[in-house]
Amino acid sequence: MNKPERNMALELVRATEAAAMAAGRWMGRGDRNASDNAAVNGMRYMLNTIEMNGTIIIGEGEKDEAPMLFNGEKLGTGNNPEVDIAVDPIDGTRLLSLGRPNAVSVVALSERNTMFDPKHIFYMNKIAVGPSAAGVIDIEAPVYENLSRVAKALDKAVEDVTVVVLDRPRHEQLISEIREAGSRIRLISDGDIAGALMTCKNGSGIDLLMGVGGSPEAVISACALKCVGGTMECKLWPRNTEEAARCRELGMDLNAVLSLDDLVSSDNVFFAATGVTDGEMLKGVRYEGDRIVTNSIVMRSKSGTIRYIDAIHSLRKLDLISSIDYGPRFE
Ligand code: FBP
Repeated sequence: MNKPERNMALELVRATEAAAMAAGRWMGRGDRNASDNAAVNGMRYMLNTIEMNGTIIIGEGEKDEAPMLFNGEKLGTGNNPEVDIAVDPIDGTRLLSLGRPNAVSVVALSERNTMFDPKHIFYMNKIAVGPSAAGVIDIEAPVYENLSRVAKALDKAVEDVTVVVLDRPRHEQLISEIREAGSRIRLISDGDIAGALMTCKNGSGIDLLMGVGGSPEAVISACALKCVGGTMECKLWPRNTEEAARCRELGMDLNAVLSLDDLVSSDNVFFAATGVTDGEMLKGVRYEGDRIVTNSIVMRSKSGTIRYIDAIHSLRKLDLISSIDYGPRFE
């Protein structure tokens, strides 16, 4: 069979755990590159142990620097199933380097040729909601319209709706429109994958994600939302006329609304994320002498199963079987 028949998310989580454990050592130490390198090495090592013929569709860019998990890179043993892979070893490298909440390590996987490739367009405008408001959003409708539709779907007032927005100057207009509508805003400094996931988590206090963020993060968020039954719409967001021209040269339609199915067309999507720093979605990595404790979410769209996995790892034993550097040993 060249299609995935087993729950591969249960294997992916070992890669996000490895990335989180290796990178979490760098929390608050102000070195984004060191934490990203640690995460990339851990993730690549574990993904290569998985029985699959994987191609990275959403990676960290071109093959220019060795430590990156680059677009087009092959991962896995090379045997079937054939799959598309999206990686973000750390979503929120700045959050991690400053010791702020919500840095996560993330991997998504789907059947071959089912993930949208944003090519060289780095940003998308996004709107995302959880299952209770799926089906009411329209990225082309005015902000107020979306907020009132979501409020109605959630059986609450527009003033009760909370929107998560990346804190960026480009969102000045969006923020003022949300304020005019009377809804509440949760500004985040980074990490809109966690932001999108929060819309699906009961008790997170977040109802919607709006605004412009990374295109890779959009595809990964779409994979996660597909698993939980949330939804998302996006539009490519070139930063300038050169990028817009490049986009057209590549045959990409700047006016197209990308639905969840456009972002990932497969109905057999796998997603795993491990917390690196503490957040609404997941707890961060704990280092306790010989033990490292991780908290992850593991999901598969076909079955709809969502698992939270608390894992206790033995540093001493991992040392004997793995070449990943998980940091100082407790003697
Ligand atoms: P990295 O951790 O990969 O740097 O991404 C963090 C992030 O905040 C994403 O979650 C978000 O989609 C993107 O950066 C926004 O880009 P920018 O910081 O350029 O506005």
